[in-house]
Amino acid sequence: MTGLRKHVPWPLAAVLPRARWAARALDEDAFQATIGERPAGISFRLAVPPDLIARAHDAGILWIQQVSSRGQADGALRAGADVIVAQGGEAGGHGGDVGTMVTVPDLVDMAGEVPVLAAGGIADGRGLAAALTPGAQGVQMGSLFLASEEMSVSQAWKSRIVESAASDAVKAVGRERILPPFNRPVSAGVPRCLRTPWWTPCASTLDRCTPQRPCLA
Ligand SMILES: Cc1cc2nc3c(=O)[nH]c(=O)nc-3n(C[C@H](O)[C@H](O)[C@H](O)COP(=O)(O)O)c2cc1C
Repeated sequence: MTGLRKHVPWPLAAVLPRARWAARALDEDAFQATIGERPAGISFRLAVPPDLIARAHDAGILWIQQVSSRGQADGALRAGADVIVAQGGEAGGHGGDVGTMVTVPDLVDMAGEVPVLAAGGIADGRGLAAALTPGAQGVQMGSLFLASEEMSVSQAWKSRIVESAASDAVKAVGRERILPPFNRPVSAGVPRCLRTPWWTPCASTLDRCTPQRPCLA
């Protein structure tokens, strides 16, 4: 944790799937260790956990809640989230189906005084400017950083990201049949990823795939 903090001074992101969305239960020790570090903020996604939000607040830690629907936003606001990340379906990783430019103004209206960050498909200053217009206070980006020098993924992956067109990305519907058990049986949102020689045949045989035998092609 201390080593991580050197690289990520703020906010310290805690991504801890909960039982409602994932087969893996909350790692209480990891959450306690996160609280113990007293970060300025904890960023959370995939589910809205009111009990954890209350514990963070008791420790003086702000709660940043990533959501991709009105229902999730409502839960986050009721639970006292300090920042809402309104993530549209364009985002890499898990997200909803509604686009960022529809999600952001919708959730800005819901959030009132609570600041909203826009996420999904933003990669430069034009995207930032576009997100501020409907009322976002800032943006959260992800895919772009996968291709950064600091990122430790392989150069082949970075090159693929830089060279890909938007149409090379797909929503990986049915991925709970092939991803590791921590994402089963369902999670809040469908991941968006690049088409690969592995994924494309998988997608057409998903109804017969299992985590033990993921791709039948
Ligand atoms: C490979 C990948 C992994 C991600 N993992 C997480 C995560 O563990 N926790 C989280 O809050 N967001 C995660 N995200 C979402 C990002 O924080 C961010 O909200 C999203 O990437 C924004 O959309 P963009 O990819 O279009 O920039 C991930 C995104 C990607 C691409």
